[in-house]
Order: sequence, then C-alpha cells, then structure tokens
Amino acid sequence: MHHPIFQRLKAEIEAREQAGLGRSLMAVSERHGTTVTVDGREYLNFSSNDFLGLAQDPDMAGKLADLCRRFGSGSGASRLVTGTESCTLAAEQALADYFGYESCLIMGSGFLANLTLIATLFSEKDTLLLDKRAHTSTMAGVRHSRARFHTFRHNRMSHLRKLLEAHPPEAVLTESLFSMDGDSPDFAALKKLKEEFNFLLIVDEAHALGVLGSGGKGLGRDVADVAVGTLGKAFGMFGAFILGPQIVRDYLIHFGQGFIYTTALPPWHGDMALAMLEQIRCADDRRAHLHELGIAAREILRETGLTVHGEAHILALEVGDELRCQELATALRREGILLFAARYPTVPLGQAILRVCLTSEHRLADIERLRDALRNALKEVTVK
Ligand SMILES: Cc1ncc(COP(=O)(O)O)c(C=O)c1O
Repeated sequence: MHHPIFQRLKAEIEAREQAGLGRSLMAVSERHGTTVTVDGREYLNFSSNDFLGLAQDPDMAGKLADLCRRFGSGSGASRLVTGTESCTLAAEQALADYFGYESCLIMGSGFLANLTLIATLFSEKDTLLLDKRAHTSTMAGVRHSRARFHTFRHNRMSHLRKLLEAHPPEAVLTESLFSMDGDSPDFAALKKLKEEFNFLLIVDEAHALGVLGSGGKGLGRDVADVAVGTLGKAFGMFGAFILGPQIVRDYLIHFGQGFIYTTALPPWHGDMALAMLEQIRCADDRRAHLHELGIAAREILRETGLTVHGEAHILALEVGDELRCQELATALRREGILLFAARYPTVPLGQAILRVCLTSEHRLADIERLRDALRNALKEVTVK
C-alpha cells in the first residue's frame, strides 16, 4: 500500500463511504424463485432482473446441463476465428425474426453491446443527442466515439426538439424502459420528430424485451432503427444482442472492437438463447401477471407515503438523501427483504431511490410484505 497511487485510491473510496456511497459485494449462496440466501439467511428479493423467472426454470437448467456435456464449457476462440457456432447464427436469425429487424449480432454483454455499437458507428464528425438518464454503457459508447453530444432532459420531447433544431444530429439515443426510473419515452412523439428531422434512432431495450409490448417484443420497434437487447435480464442468461439493418451487423463484424477482440460466448450459448426465446414466445401468462403486479405494486407501495415512480415492472421509490436511503435498505434487510438503494453515480447526487424490481415469480402478498416492512423502516429511520 506504499505507492502514492494506492493512497489516492484509498482516499477516494473513503470519501465515497463517508458520503453514504460505499459499495461492497454480497455473496449469494442460493436462489429459489423470489428468494436469495446471503450469509445463511433467506431474503425476499426485489433486486433481480430475471423478470420472467427463466433463470430459475428447472427445464432450462436441465437443457443447459445437457448442452454443456455435449459441447464443453468454453468456445476457446473469438467470434471471427472459431467462436461462431451454427447455433449462434441460428439464434441471431431467430432473434432478428422475432423482434422484427433485418439482422442481429450477439455480443458478450449489454454493456459491451452499447459501448461497441455507439463507439464503432460514430466518430468525431458526428453529433449525438441522448437522454440525460441513459445507461452508463451508452454514455461510455458516446465518449469513446468522440462524437459531439448533447443530453436532453429525461423523456422531455420538447427539449429534444429544441436540441434537434440547434444541433442536428446523426442519431438520437434513448431507452424503452429506463433502468432506474422505470419509465418510457413517448414513442409516438419520437416517431414524429424522426420523420421531421431524419435522425437514426437507437433504443436500448434491455429492460423491455421479453416483457413489454405484444409478445414481449419491446416498445420501440415501430420507430427504432437499431435496438439493443440483453440476454441477462428477461432471457435469464447472459450475453446481449444488437438488432438492426444488415449493414450495421456487417460493419460491427469489420470494425467493432468489442465484438472482434474478445472470446466468444460458450458453444452452447446459441442453443440456450434459442430455447429461452421459445420460452419468451410462450410467456403471455407470465407477462400478464407481471403487468397486473406492477399496477398493484404502485398503489400498494404508495401507502407507505413515498413517491413511487415507474410504469411497469421497475419501480423507483423516491428517497433523496443517500445515507437515509442506505439506512432504509439496511432496515428492510433486517426484516428479511433485499432491495437496493440506488445512489450516485448510478442516479444523480441527492436523488437516491429504493429500486423495486418485480418478477413474474412475485405474488401480491410479497408486495404487501414489502409495504409493511417499509412502513416500519420509515418509522425507524426517521426517529434517528
Ligand atoms: C439500460 C441498460 N442497458 C444495458 C445494460 C447492460 O446489460 P448487461 O447486463 O447485459 O451488460 C443494463 C443493465 O445493467 C441496463 O440497465
């Protein structure tokens, strides 16, 4: 710990911790449906993006085991060498067909997909406009691209219009269901703006694909030119995919560093993605249940007195102060409930939220339990 750089790192972490912004890893030992076990204690989990419960599906786990036995654990090569299986190509075609795009390219993760897509397609010659609350991976892509960029106020189409007039862009970047706020842009308004200003629209559908829209096909298809989906959330796996015109896929294969210079996903990944897509195709009941649950949860959680944001299966309970938010999460944990305090820099400073992720595995009684625990936690934390 003697090198000065380590002292600097230590000081920066301590400053974060003192501001209630410390971060640490939690070791999960078991997962069953809506519960996770941490340090021998079972918690009701409201922090999972496994929105349709597919990551826990025993048939899918069995299929994965069979595939692993047949194909082995790793691909041992990058996609352009021998890391592309025939099942990878079949999965890409099936994803493109299902979600209604010309082509699809599977990537290592959603973060890598956004970063690679944006950084590869655009350069310092371009101008980009993006929602102020866009995911960090989108911002990372924008910065790596070196394009000029401007952010518009969250979901505020009138502000986007002003920016479009002042800084005509090559592309506009947004999300279909925002990961922290749980809300969506006005796609009809976006469509009109697109017709008027003729920009390329890139929509990150990470939290929507599989869950929202008819058949879980997302919210942006009518208007997006390119969309990013992840296999790590509703698909219950890992990896991600970029949907769009064939030229975008071809270009990424030629120039996308985050696609080219990295080991391909395991050889069974394409077969599993196909199997999960089939599950998603048939998941209308789970989607309907999750939809109903979202509506009920908004009402029930408002009974705590907290302001509740979110239009679907991600809800944000407004807290504001980081330390208070952290204390509330800790108090909930004492009650056996795991729910994350999203704090700066994941959300803006002073705007900490308790983020509630609902899955189709949750029942109404789980939400009521959360409400009751939250009421107690609010009393406890306010008294301090
Ligand atoms: C909006 C959004 N885009 C992209 C990602 C990254 O996806 P992945 O978890 O597959 O890296 C996430 C999730 O973390 C996200 O919330």
